[in-house]
Amino acid sequence: MKKVAFFLGKGGVGKTTLSSATAYYLSRMGRKVLIVSLDPAHNLGDVFGMKLSNKRTPLATNLDGIEVDLQEWIARYLKESREEILATYRYNTTINLDSYINIMKYTPGTEEYAVLWAIEHVVQAYGDEYDRIIFDTPPTALTLRFLAMPTISMLWVRELLNMREKVLKKRQTILSLNPQAHVIRGSSKPEDDRIYGKLSSIQSRLSSLHQLFKNESYLTVIINPDTLSLAEAIRIKHELEKLDVYIDSVCFNKAPSDGACGDEVKQNFHRFPIFTSVYVPTGLKTNEDLAKVEIPELVEDMERN
Ligand SMILES: Nc1ncnc2c1ncn2[C@@H]1O[C@H](COP(=O)(O)OP(=O)(O)O)[C@@H](O)[C@H]1O
Ligand SMILES: [Mg+2]
Repeated sequence: MKKVAFFLGKGGVGKTTLSSATAYYLSRMGRKVLIVSLDPAHNLGDVFGMKLSNKRTPLATNLDGIEVDLQEWIARYLKESREEILATYRYNTTINLDSYINIMKYTPGTEEYAVLWAIEHVVQAYGDEYDRIIFDTPPTALTLRFLAMPTISMLWVRELLNMREKVLKKRQTILSLNPQAHVIRGSSKPEDDRIYGKLSSIQSRLSSLHQLFKNESYLTVIINPDTLSLAEAIRIKHELEKLDVYIDSVCFNKAPSDGACGDEVKQNFHRFPIFTSVYVPTGLKTNEDLAKVEIPELVEDMERN
């Protein structure tokens, strides 16, 4: 069973609503569920009428919730990177580390890494305590970038590891000529080299995250009866396929009771299970309203996967 689930789709299609309804339904089935919002716009708490934070808050029997504070994770990521750089390059007094580290705040990718390490933390820290962890995702652009980050970064890290191996080989050559060589302050073996060790550890963390997205996550894309949300769903599916990540199902949410627009969804996603939840005209205000959202078939499919 895939422990983790991600709800994807255009803004406003119902990611927060369907992830909450699914989490609530699973909890009433007796599953222990953690729901985690990665969306900086945080409205998961509103759905349950609770104020959520980085710490777990009980929302119902068997159901806890977290709103990941991305700014805090960015600050934590920058602080850890700073300590790492200072420790790794403490012998190097020729570059101005502080100005280098200050620039990191503006480096592309910082936000994506912060999301990745937040997901890693949630899964590692709480995974054993829950049957399911459901993520309510941020807007598509950021979601696609953080899902792609492990694959892209692994290419970089592999290249850096190759470069480091070359440096270490050169050191070995120098040492074999002159065992007392002064040029070598560090180690000449990968297993003793701090930088090589750090790169290997980043590589294995990224690889685990890619595995998590690819093999251990149930991915569902939400579509509404409009062309824009359909177009975005098609784009999400394509972008993920490039990363060798495949969606599991499609949710046709806010469906008109006469089923209009359903055919277009079927045409584009004919190889996938499609779950329909009709538009609730009275709105969804309380967590009792969540029980009105039709997700039992989606949950059944999740339980099978
Ligand atoms: N099946 C539905 N019937 C009626 N209203 C819905 C339904 N699904 C979602 N909504 C409403 O649509 C709005 C946007 O939903 P939300 O879950 O916040 O979208 P997202 O998280 O994708 O931005 C909310 O007001 C929500 O109550
Ligand atoms: Mg939302």
